[in-house]
Amino acid sequence: MPIRLLQLTDLHLFGDPHGQLLGITTRGSFEAVLELALSSDAQPSAIVVSGDLVHDETPAGYRYLRETLKRTDLPHYCVAGNHDDVGLMQEHLGSAALGSVALRRLRSWNLVFLDSSVSGQEGGHLTAAQLNQLQDLLEENRAPTAIFLHHHPVPIQSAWMDTMGVDNGSELIALCDRNPHIKALVFGHIHQSFSAKHGECSILGAPSTCFQFLSGSKDFAIDDSPPGYRELTLYPDGSLATKVVRLEHYAELPLHQVGGY
Ligand SMILES: [Fe+2]
Repeated sequence: MPIRLLQLTDLHLFGDPHGQLLGITTRGSFEAVLELALSSDAQPSAIVVSGDLVHDETPAGYRYLRETLKRTDLPHYCVAGNHDDVGLMQEHLGSAALGSVALRRLRSWNLVFLDSSVSGQEGGHLTAAQLNQLQDLLEENRAPTAIFLHHHPVPIQSAWMDTMGVDNGSELIALCDRNPHIKALVFGHIHQSFSAKHGECSILGAPSTCFQFLSGSKDFAIDDSPPGYRELTLYPDGSLATKVVRLEHYAELPLHQVGGY
């Protein structure tokens, strides 16, 4: 039986149920994407939420997320993004909030979660301690491994966005070279679909559950593509299949604000 993971990312929720960002009511778009993700005939194994959980960093935002994920009755794992407050996450998400480096074993796969957020910064970083701990985990168990983090560890050919990836992403890529059992690096942050290969390792970004950034854009630019999520199917032999699924239509369109949000 393969593992079926749902990756939802960049929720940008608010404590206020009606809170909007760039014209999108982010709780509404998150709920629509979650409903779509859960509606498939194939039973999901777990949900991964890859950062930028709560935009206004409020306890109410995190508590709403905890209750909503709990209602799915699925294991769920949350990593921090640049818009998160790690202390509030730990306090209000409970065991769903993963720390600096966390390992969850799911059947024949290892899922590893890294906190790439840096307090007060938009870009990400992995500390030497995190990379060493990750290397130790990878040496202890050579099962096929998928690694999840918020920031992109490789350039995505979008100049403004590439100023705020993992600033030492090349060290994570070097680790992939030394550990061919890393089968996927999966991230959020970029608010767009991204798919590349580094050797046998899949490098995967996903659309946001709210608004999207225009792929390949030199400067900040919004894209009208609907909200979505990524699905990963992990097979016992270490191979995987993946696809991005979007809402067919979402009533709210994002505001095309210039310069940022
Ligand atoms: Fe985000």
